[in-house]
Amino acid sequence: MNKEKIIVTAALPYANGPIHLGHLAGAYLPADIYVRYKRLNGDDVLFVCGSDEHGVPITITADKEKVKPQTIIDRFHNINKDSFEKFGMSFDIYSRTSLPIHHETAKEFFLEFHKKDLLKEKKSMQFYDAKANMFLPDRYVEGTCPNCGSDNARSDECENCGALYESNQLKNPKSKISGETPILKETSHYYFPLGDFQKRLENYIQEMDEKYEWKENVLQYCRGWFKEGLQDRAITRDLDWGVSVPLDGAKGKVLYVWFEAVLGYISALKDYSIKMDKPDLWKKYWQDPDTKYVAFIGKDNVVFHTIVFPAILMAWNDGKKDKFCLPQNVPANEFLNFEGKKFSKSRGWGIDVIDFVTQFPADSLRYSLTCNLPEMRDSDFQWKEFQARHNNELADILGNLVNRTFTFAFKNFEGKVPAIYTLNSLDSQMLKFSEDSTQKVGELIEKYKFKDSLLEIMNLARSANKYFNDSEPWKTFKSDKEQCSTTINICLQTIYTLAELIQPFLPNSSQKIFSMLNEKETVWSDAGKINLTEGKELNKPQILFQKIEDETIERMVKMLGHVETDEKKEEKQLISIEDFQKVEIKTALIIEAEKIPKSERLLKLKVDLGDHKRQIIAGIAKHYQPDDLINKKVLIVANLKPAKLMGMESEGMVLAVENQNGKLSVIEIDPEINLGVRAK
Ligand code: 2FM
Ligand code: ZN
Repeated sequence: MNKEKIIVTAALPYANGPIHLGHLAGAYLPADIYVRYKRLNGDDVLFVCGSDEHGVPITITADKEKVKPQTIIDRFHNINKDSFEKFGMSFDIYSRTSLPIHHETAKEFFLEFHKKDLLKEKKSMQFYDAKANMFLPDRYVEGTCPNCGSDNARSDECENCGALYESNQLKNPKSKISGETPILKETSHYYFPLGDFQKRLENYIQEMDEKYEWKENVLQYCRGWFKEGLQDRAITRDLDWGVSVPLDGAKGKVLYVWFEAVLGYISALKDYSIKMDKPDLWKKYWQDPDTKYVAFIGKDNVVFHTIVFPAILMAWNDGKKDKFCLPQNVPANEFLNFEGKKFSKSRGWGIDVIDFVTQFPADSLRYSLTCNLPEMRDSDFQWKEFQARHNNELADILGNLVNRTFTFAFKNFEGKVPAIYTLNSLDSQMLKFSEDSTQKVGELIEKYKFKDSLLEIMNLARSANKYFNDSEPWKTFKSDKEQCSTTINICLQTIYTLAELIQPFLPNSSQKIFSMLNEKETVWSDAGKINLTEGKELNKPQILFQKIEDETIERMVKMLGHVETDEKKEEKQLISIEDFQKVEIKTALIIEAEKIPKSERLLKLKVDLGDHKRQIIAGIAKHYQPDDLINKKVLIVANLKPAKLMGMESEGMVLAVENQNGKLSVIEIDPEINLGVRAK
């Protein structure tokens, strides 16, 4: 198959808050799976994303915090970039729409349309806050819905009943800035003639669907808008934060965020080209008619990517020699809910990506989200299901296959790939399954069916476990060495295939398996084949997935719905030096450790502080065998009020830290340091 040149974009998230799991399931994870798969196939992919740093969501957050928009975008650009990295997103560029290159690009498009006389200037009445001396964007005005009477309705739309209306129909309007009643004042804006493009857009979507099979949910949204009829759209706003309108007499006006944000995909590749020191590189992608462009988004962004952005590109391309390519596909997902409800920062419902990946392995999240992607309809993330998928599928199926095969190879074949001899029917079936699965997984990913493709991969892992069981290598090792050797060889070959197939989904685990196989990550076309040569040395197995304990999940469930504002968080985190000095942290030597009958969690320790000894009951029984603790020099809190645990006195607390899998490690200190010394 010919290698393709591909641009993949994932919606540019607003830099006004941290991304959550819903964002990942909507657009980012599917995009990353697709890109990783395409790269393994040898295609030439550029994967583009970045922060959307203009628009009212940003200014509202800045107003709330009484800081400049710049402070907000800097904070969340960094948080989101970091979250994406930790989650394993493999962007080639994570750019920002506040960069000069973006402002230039957006202005260039606006001026081009102005020059082509495409834009219409129209007057309209808009809410104006006389006290704050500014026009109020829709989200800055609240009032009573003219339809259902609910309060907190927005100036043009009611969230309660879904009604859409003109601003002057809203009852009791109030400015969110000053609290005053705003007046309606005349203003003028530039309108993009979207309606004029309706026929061309309908043809474009029909053609793309016929050639590349668009998703039904996306087509349905498009049909709905076409049926309603496309209208001219204002592409300017009265605001002071954004890309300023590059015309004399347009002071105080910026480009509408949606008009310029979609152009962020183009400016992000320009940014990439500059960073690569090849300033014209972007043209080779964006303006090559053979480029395949795929835009990953969530359902709330469909209209902008299937209608607004293509229309902008068509308008630019008209009469130009170098034309931008239009999206070949827009595989949008529906929404992911969280434990049955919508994600809500203000109600503390959901979890930020950064918090998730500091507590659990990113691959486990990727796995659980992929199994649950809202590909055709909304879906739901549940903590218990996350735990079950991690424990019963990743650990018990994939992890178990790898572990049992490697353990067997180390015990019986000196940690080397054993030879393959005559194949019996089970062996041949296993090899065939592996080959067929590889093919199916690839086809499903090409069709953006990520859930089904991961299911297929796990079926392969399940079959390999069954093959191991049915082949009974522990018996054939005694009765038929050659058969045993063949079984283990085939298990290892299947593990190789699995490592390849999971790479787009679980990149870290894939890498770990490849390193156990003593192999470098290779190319997709190797999957489903015999790759490992007889006699190849393997590396010692490591546990791929530590089980997640019930307690850990219960703790996460308990945290739901508890709102912690940033101020509260900061207040809670800060203590005075006097507070700190109240805590006596001292060095101590563990001299005795024993299990406590009937307790899974607690160990009874005796520690020596130099001038005296004392007993501490520590909750670390699940993480240490008592003997492993003896002679460890640790830190304890020495002035904690004594407490009774399981009827035994505990005088202090041993300091320990938890890793991302919930395993506790006591903090050990340099053995040279004396006992009873206070930490400062
Ligand atoms: O919904 C959002 O978070 C928007 N910031 C997405 C923009 S996508 C593109 F236009 F940049
Ligand atoms: Zn209403």
